[in-house]
Amino acid sequence: MKKNELINIRLSEDENSVIILDQTALPNEEKYLKLNKKKELFDAIYTLQVRGAPAIGIFAAYSLYVLAKQIRAKAYEEFLTEVQKCGKYLDSSRPTAVNLNTQLTRMIKLVENNSGLEINKILEIMKEEAVKIHNEDIKMCRLISEHGLTLIKDGFGIMTQCNAGPIATSKYGTGLGPLFLGQEKGMKLHAYINETRPLLQGARLTAFELNRAGINCTLICDNMASIVMSEGKVDAVFAGCDRVAANGDTANKVGTSGLAILASYYKIPFYIFCPSTTIDINCESGEQIEIEQRKPEEIKNLFFTKPIAPEAVNCYNPAFDITPNELITAIITENGIFKPKGGKTKLF
Ligand code: MRU
Repeated sequence: MKKNELINIRLSEDENSVIILDQTALPNEEKYLKLNKKKELFDAIYTLQVRGAPAIGIFAAYSLYVLAKQIRAKAYEEFLTEVQKCGKYLDSSRPTAVNLNTQLTRMIKLVENNSGLEINKILEIMKEEAVKIHNEDIKMCRLISEHGLTLIKDGFGIMTQCNAGPIATSKYGTGLGPLFLGQEKGMKLHAYINETRPLLQGARLTAFELNRAGINCTLICDNMASIVMSEGKVDAVFAGCDRVAANGDTANKVGTSGLAILASYYKIPFYIFCPSTTIDINCESGEQIEIEQRKPEEIKNLFFTKPIAPEAVNCYNPAFDITPNELITAIITENGIFKPKGGKTKLF
């Protein structure tokens, strides 16, 4: 582990809990939570203590292992039923990021495919699988960052949305990966960070991560993206994503599609970054992606603190939006850079 590196998700030493960096406490406090109860593991995802599509997937895999250890079943069938129930429960915490379902399904399949083993042995391979999922993400993020780096030059201004950095993944991140790797290689880049209302992942998390790494960055309010682009400060937009449909439409933090429309107007390349675990080939287009609807309080109160709107006002709070494939210059995964061609990507 490098000095100064934050470990956002890990198993506790006794392997009975998952330890996470509480992302809701950032940037004010680097606080760690030790979680092992079903409801607190669910809530950690729902309340965004752990967030970012790949990070949710990794966390869910460790959580399922921790919960499986608590099952008091004598026979395999009973054990499997309980594991499936826990998986279904965790999966219901947030609907849009496909990584959550993908990694839980992978863990449950492992249990289903090993009916001949003793429960203790199944638990052992569940732990190994969760660690494997984590390590695979580290490798994928590194490759994504390397591919992304080929798209930029020294001096580039890069606009970001939400947070697609190391704390949203495992290491490097996806959309922020090229900036971290570029910094390691001595490049001078400048990020224009959209604050990302209502939960301010840009202001609280992206600004925190980039600042900490010494990467030049400027925080802007979401409604300033157009003027910043019009002033020629932005050479590319980099965003992560929560699900990619088979036609290349992508779901990411609400506001991303607006940035893609602006980028198209100002003729600025618009890139989406994600590991292949975020691709959902069973989903034909963006229309089939379920968009998470969240509580009005997130809009009416400034990050759960001060009220900034009348209590009685109606709010609409979709957490994600869909960027149509034709507005995406390229999707970058660990396997390379894929350009949507005539409305169809060559992603698969
Ligand atoms: O609601 P959040 O904060 O979980 O939304 C996260 C995003 O939109 C990220 O851009 C996405 O998960 C990619 S993380 C590498």
